[in-house]
Amino acid sequence: MNVFVMKNKREASQKAFELMKQEMENGADVFGLATGSTPEDLYEIMTASDTDFSGITSVNLDEYVGLSPEDPQSYHYFMEKHLFSKKPFKETYVPNGLAEETEESARYNKIIADNPIDLQILGIGTNGHIGFNEPGASFDSETRKVALVESTIESNKVYFEHEEDVPRYAYSMGIKSIMASKKIILMAFGEHKAEAIKNMIEGPITEDVPASILQRHPNVTVIVDEEAGSLLK
Ligand code: F6R
Repeated sequence: MNVFVMKNKREASQKAFELMKQEMENGADVFGLATGSTPEDLYEIMTASDTDFSGITSVNLDEYVGLSPEDPQSYHYFMEKHLFSKKPFKETYVPNGLAEETEESARYNKIIADNPIDLQILGIGTNGHIGFNEPGASFDSETRKVALVESTIESNKVYFEHEEDVPRYAYSMGIKSIMASKKIILMAFGEHKAEAIKNMIEGPITEDVPASILQRHPNVTVIVDEEAGSLLK
């Protein structure tokens, strides 16, 4: 893994953007994208840039089960608001939170198979999850319905008015599909991510820390701020 510890989130996101442009110059035309607070600055930098994304297909990692694309808490809505409404893409895919489990898993796995991901953007949960592959998820997993663990529901609470509104399930791309991406950029910011980052990079490869599997991927760049990198040797 290549690890960059940058001064702050802005500089880290700028670094990620430079790497993204390099990959595009090398022919990358399918991006795997994440939601949450981690990629917000990257998406802002992308939308403010004069880079043309109209040849890029994007495939998002996950979506809450039960939320429609129009729901302001959905990941569809997040992507529209932060990126897709501002920059035209060739095609954008996000799992459909209202679709039936078996059909949606099959549909999304086919989308990933038809659009092999050149560059996957990842955040990481405080418990080491990637996508919504929570601790214990099989390294062999593909897109499926997953139950969010209590700590994830707790972290997501800030985005919802009432705790009971926080979705308990999501559709998530599996770890096997994430590992099939040609290149991965994982970003993490803030002290609350420091332990997950340490475990991911320096800990044993175990399904208890889903992100630790990235140690086996040949082309991963980790970009963190000083706080998230503070426990690294
Ligand atoms: C989001 C996703 C999650 C987040 C992770 C970190 O699409 O797949 O794995 O990347 O939960 O969330 P933030 O960025 O909000 O700290």
